Amino acid sequence: MRLDKFVSDGAAMTRSESRKAIKKGRVLVENEIVKDIAFSVSEDCRVYLDGNEIAYKKFVYIMLNKPQGYVSATEDKKQKTVLDLLDPSYSRYQLFPVGRLDIDTEGFLLLTNDGELAHNMLSPNKNVGKTYFLRLEKQITDSEIDNLEKGVDIGECITKPAKAERICEREINLTITEGKFHQIKRMAKAVGNEVVYLKRLAYGNFYLDEALERGSYRSLTEEETEYLCNVYKRK
Ligand code: URA
Repeated sequence: MRLDKFVSDGAAMTRSESRKAIKKGRVLVENEIVKDIAFSVSEDCRVYLDGNEIAYKKFVYIMLNKPQGYVSATEDKKQKTVLDLLDPSYSRYQLFPVGRLDIDTEGFLLLTNDGELAHNMLSPNKNVGKTYFLRLEKQITDSEIDNLEKGVDIGECITKPAKAERICEREINLTITEGKFHQIKRMAKAVGNEVVYLKRLAYGNFYLDEALERGSYRSLTEEETEYLCNVYKRK
């Protein structure tokens, strides 16, 4: 790839900022100053900006605590999208949400530009568990919780076995492995109830970072990224 792309991707600069830095001689490739913005480098090259090595970032992985009022899409004519919550400097990465949460659902949403990872995470064969916190309109009985676990008729299908954990009379955590349209809300309806608040707590083994306020986000750490790629990309 071109040196200006390497520098802008790796050092979170715009392309014009990276070109200026290169032309001013602030960029070294291996041990040489290179002023040619189109100089060809590979992802493994050692590139330095002002003496600091740049780690080239091809893929970006962001954990977002989605607030209500935002759609899980990359663009929408009427509503704000989850991408509107990110700093504009992320626009060059062409991020997209892995799966969808309803506009009134909060919680864990992964944003990435890694298509292979997203595809694998969303694949029904992978049986990835998604854990939701539900506040219900009415009290839920133990036998209704049992039914949610065994599978309920939501019209298009009987849901696959799920795991439920009671928190109090009107609140449960529910882990499902499918991702049918409005699945959790339809499951609650199937046992004669209604969801009044829904938050996704976890995606697979990944739990929402409790330090993230509604609407805030952070990059996954190197360990988290490595774990995710090991689980979903190397199978
Ligand atoms: N199930 C729902 O009903 N809504 C969501 O946003 C996610 C799962």
